[in-house]
Amino acid sequence: MSTLEVLKKGAPKLRITSEPVSSERFGTPELEQLVEDMIETMKLENGVGIAAPQVGVNDRIIIVDDGKKIDAYINPKIISTSDKMIESEEGCLSVPGVFGIVKRHKKVKLKALDRHGKPVRVSVSGFPAIVFQHEIDHLNGILFIDKVEKLTSGENDPLI
Ligand code: CO
Repeated sequence: MSTLEVLKKGAPKLRITSEPVSSERFGTPELEQLVEDMIETMKLENGVGIAAPQVGVNDRIIIVDDGKKIDAYINPKIISTSDKMIESEEGCLSVPGVFGIVKRHKKVKLKALDRHGKPVRVSVSGFPAIVFQHEIDHLNGILFIDKVEKLTSGENDPLI
């Protein structure tokens, strides 16, 4: 296991659409290592989620700490969302020092594959729903600063 460098805003890999993980890669040491390294990196950086593009890999893989467990979700796809929205303060390991209020769906349902390629369904509300939406945005080249309603710190950053 090793920790990986987290790319920061401005890195081109954070801005491209990541590719689905192909079926042949499930169960390989390469994929297992990537997942373990992403988990280790997220923990080291005190994050509650991380997406593969943040470690320079444009694969559709996210790690989410939902408060109960930390797990990998591969090729995640949101299948339904609540009309009800909630606002909360977000930050991102790739945008250090910047926090702001983002509006997101209160509840989401998604499907994904686990690291072994087994289909999983997730139904979440509140905080974990926000984390899943934030991380899935990364797979589409979107950062929370693109959606922020109001910055709560880091306003002087000239790139925003
Ligand atoms: Co992020």
